[in-house]
Amino acid sequence: MRNSEPYVKLDEGLVSRKIFFDEQIYAEELERIFARCWLFLGHESQIPAPGDYMTAYMGEDPILICRGSDGVVRAFLNSCRHRGMKVCRADRGNARQFTCSFHGWTYTNTGELRGVPLGKEAYGDRLNKSSWGLLEVPKLAVYGGMIFGNWDAGAESLDQFLGDLRWYLDVMIERQLGGIEFVPGVQRYSLNANWKIASENFAGDTYHLAYSHGSMFKLDIRQINPANPSFRDKETEYFNIGLDNGHGMTGVVFGGERYRVDRLLAEEYGPEVVEYVEACQEQLLKALPKHQAGVYAPSFSNMFPNLSFNDFSALRPIGFYLWLPKGPGRIEAWNWCGIDRDAPQVIKDQARVDFSRIQSVSGIAAQDDTENFEQVTEATRGVIGQQLDFNYQMNVGQPLLDGPADCPGRFAPYISETNQLNFYQYWAELYDARRVTKNVNG
Ligand code: FES
Ligand code: FE
Repeated sequence: MRNSEPYVKLDEGLVSRKIFFDEQIYAEELERIFARCWLFLGHESQIPAPGDYMTAYMGEDPILICRGSDGVVRAFLNSCRHRGMKVCRADRGNARQFTCSFHGWTYTNTGELRGVPLGKEAYGDRLNKSSWGLLEVPKLAVYGGMIFGNWDAGAESLDQFLGDLRWYLDVMIERQLGGIEFVPGVQRYSLNANWKIASENFAGDTYHLAYSHGSMFKLDIRQINPANPSFRDKETEYFNIGLDNGHGMTGVVFGGERYRVDRLLAEEYGPEVVEYVEACQEQLLKALPKHQAGVYAPSFSNMFPNLSFNDFSALRPIGFYLWLPKGPGRIEAWNWCGIDRDAPQVIKDQARVDFSRIQSVSGIAAQDDTENFEQVTEATRGVIGQQLDFNYQMNVGQPLLDGPADCPGRFAPYISETNQLNFYQYWAELYDARRVTKNVNG
C-alpha cells in the first residue's frame, strides 16, 4: 500500500505523485513547511518611505508589510484582530493607519490597535487595546534588499537557512552598482498546478529547456539562454549545484564566462554599456574573491520552498518568481522584474522588454512552462494516476562531479536531476523525517 511507503525515495529516484495532489498532504505542508521556513515577502525598494506598505502571502496567510512611521519594516498577518477581516485590501500604498472596513477598528502602521468605534460606549474598560494589535510575523530579515519573514519564532536565522545559497546570491547582489530595484508592479497569474512543480523546475530542470523551449531557441530574438551554443565556450563546464536546505542552483558556470559573454554583447549597445559591464566586473572583483566573482551571474535557482530567480547577465533583468500555494493543484505566480538602479537607461528599458517577452505571464518561456505544469496536473490527479511515482532516476547511483576549488555545493552535470532530489529530500525532512530514506547526494 502506498500509505506505508515513503513519498520520497531518494535512493530509487522516485517521488510519489500524491505529494502534488493530496489535500491532506497539502494542509500538512502549509503547517510543516510554509509556517517554518523563511519566505519571501518583497523588496525594500518597493517600500522606501515611512508609511509605505505592500501586501503579500506566507503560505495561504495574507500579510501586510509596512515601513512604519518610525522607518522600521515589519510584517503582520493581514487580518483584523476583531473578527478577521483583511485590514488592508490594497496591493501597495502609503498610510499612517489602517481602518478595517468591517466594524472600523483602526491600527497604526506599526501594528498597534489605536481606535475602536464607540470604544467606551461599546466596551467600557473591558477592551485592553494593547493586547489586540495586529499579529506580527516574529522573524523578519532583510538580505540584499530582499525581505523575508518566518512564522517560527525559534527558526534558525535567515543566514543559516540560506547557507551556501548566499555564496551564489552574493554574486548577484554585489554585481549591482546601485543595488537591485524592483520595477514597480508585480505580474500575477494563476495556474492549475502544485507549487513544487514550478519550484523544482527552477531548482534543477535544465533537461526541459531544449525540448519544451525549443521553439524559443530557434527564434532570432537575442541569445536568451546560457546553453545557447553560440555562447558556450566548449572548455567551460556548466553545473547544477545542490545546496543544503533544499536550495538549488542550475546552469552555473565559473571562471568569468558570463562576464566574457556580457562584455561581447555590450559592444552592440555602445561605449556606455561597455563601461557599465566593466564597472560591474570591477566592483565584483573588489567585493568578492576571484573564484566567486568569476560566477558573475548565478543563472537559475530556487530558494526553498518557493522563490525562484534567474540572473544570467548584467544586461538582462533579474527575475523573481514566487509560486504561492493556493491549494494542492493551484498556484498564484507573482513575478517581479529586478534591475540595477544604476544600469544605463537603455539596459533598463531592454530589461523590461526582456522580462515581459520571456518569463512573464505572456512570455514565451512561461507559456511553455505553464502548459507543462498544468497538463502534468491534469494527467496525474486521477485516482489511478496518483498511484504512480514521478521518475528522477537520471543520476541515481552516479558520482557527483568535482566543482572548482573552494566553490560550495554538491556539483552535478548541467543536465541532471539531483537538484530535484535535493529539493525533495529537504521537503521530506520537513514533512516527516521518518519518510526520508537516504540522501542521494551523499
Ligand atoms: Fe475588523 Fe470587526 S472585523 S473591525
Ligand atoms: Fe522552462
